[in-house]
Amino acid sequence: MKIALIGYGKMGKAIHEIAQEKNARLGKNHYDISLIIDIDNRATVTKEMLQQVDVAIEFTSPHTAVDNIRWCFDADVPVVVGSTGWTEQLVELQQYAIANNKSFLFAPNFSIGVNIFFEINRYLAQIMNQHEEYDVIMEEIHHTEKKDAPSGTALHAALDVLKRLDRKSIWNNDEERKKDILTIVSKREPDVPGTHYVTYESDIDKIELIHTAHNRKGFAGGALLAAEWLKDKKGAYSMEDVLGFTK
Ligand SMILES: NC(=O)c1ccc[n+]([C@@H]2O[C@H](COP(=O)([O-])OP(=O)(O)OC[C@H]3O[C@@H](n4cnc5c(N)ncnc54)[C@H](O)[C@@H]3O)[C@@H](O)[C@H]2O)c1
Repeated sequence: MKIALIGYGKMGKAIHEIAQEKNARLGKNHYDISLIIDIDNRATVTKEMLQQVDVAIEFTSPHTAVDNIRWCFDADVPVVVGSTGWTEQLVELQQYAIANNKSFLFAPNFSIGVNIFFEINRYLAQIMNQHEEYDVIMEEIHHTEKKDAPSGTALHAALDVLKRLDRKSIWNNDEERKKDILTIVSKREPDVPGTHYVTYESDIDKIELIHTAHNRKGFAGGALLAAEWLKDKKGAYSMEDVLGFTK
């Protein structure tokens, strides 16, 4: 499978490394990273060059993701997107992909563990809807270079809670606690790949759901899995589709 990496920073490099590790088991060129695109060569890569790959994997930044997704749509190349912080345009791009037979998969977090955490979070919120004595708060901790807050992962988990918990109507990203608002606290600390908490607390006890990423390997492996899953499909998908989870 020929892959273009769009964005060759921490994540692009981690995906390349995992692809090479997997090739050692699956066969020399199972994941053939045949095109690497970053800011310094982006302008020299033509649509025809991009069309040589089976799938593109995009991990750049909140400001460049949408332009890169549209570029892949225009070239008719399936695109797996990990960049976060641009999701106000997600629905529009999903609708475009469905209406125009493009292949698009976005996940705010590609780690299998986080997607299990999302599934448990949805289940827990559904149960907690009957138990008003519990208030809920979320917290995310990431490395200091992270550009967006709250993290795409925290936002995804928060929207899943808001869909299921009638007593919360919106989220906020400050520490002010209000009864009908789901607060997401964002902290930035050196060298933290990503930690997410969902905490339900009553006067008598506390239930915490925590996911801690030890490194970037989980995101990279999940992105490759998603790329393989997407390459022959049309439409707009998420990691829940890859793993067969609820939405
Ligand atoms: N979905 C997930 O599982 C997941 C996991 C980790 C990070 N992320 C997100 O992925 C994005 C990238 O993360 P990172 O840690 O690799 O960042 P990074 O800053 O280390 O790397 C980004 C790379 O993109 C390049 N770039 C910028 N503009 C570009 C353009 N127009 N075309 C091509 N390349 C361009 C930069 O030069 C840089 O090398 C961020 O938005 C981050 O929040 C998502």
